[in-house]
Amino acid sequence: MGDIELPDHDLPAAAELVELYRSVGWNMYTREPSRLQDALRRSLRVVCAREDGRLVGLARVVGDGLTVVFLQDILVAPSHRHAGLGRALFERVFEPYAGVRRKVLLTDERSRQSEFYQQMGFRDIGILEHPLRAFLKSS
Ligand SMILES: CC(C)(COP(=O)(O)OP(=O)(O)OC[C@H]1O[C@@H](n2cnc3c(N)ncnc32)[C@H](O)[C@@H]1OP(=O)(O)O)[C@@H](O)C(=O)NCCC(=O)NCCS
Repeated sequence: MGDIELPDHDLPAAAELVELYRSVGWNMYTREPSRLQDALRRSLRVVCAREDGRLVGLARVVGDGLTVVFLQDILVAPSHRHAGLGRALFERVFEPYAGVRRKVLLTDERSRQSEFYQQMGFRDIGILEHPLRAFLKSS
């Protein structure tokens, strides 16, 4: 792996997003590339990872940036995993929000993701001292 850059204010082209999101199997997102790009444009903060200009990872948060921030996507191209890039994206995307009390994310039950989030300092809401529940309306 070469030098990786995490440039600020980087809005990837729709075709780059489609390639990255497809590489991790998130095909629901890629059906409407311009909508995906607009979703990034409207996000609170987006951090991209590039190697020689090529998009190899991305993280984005949504929210108000004051009381709540929500990690919506974090993805690293399969060719670039297990080298600390996920952690770097995670830390960089949350960097401005150290004082925000609620940082939230939703994920499925696959244990490898849970392990990643626990490594990042997040705790499963089901095993908190005062457990929370999550409700979702999704179509
Ligand atoms: C989850 C994901 C972003 C991790 O990216 P990555 O670059 O491989 O992660 P890192 O190399 O920075 O690993 C960070 C930590 O997470 C843990 N981790 C990462 N991948 C792991 C795996 N497959 N199994 C167990 N632990 C894992 C490691 O313990 C590591 O801790 P360490 O730095 O102390 O060794 C990446 O696997 C991915 O893009 N997956 C597909 C998309 C996805 O599922 N995103 C999250 C769901 S919303």
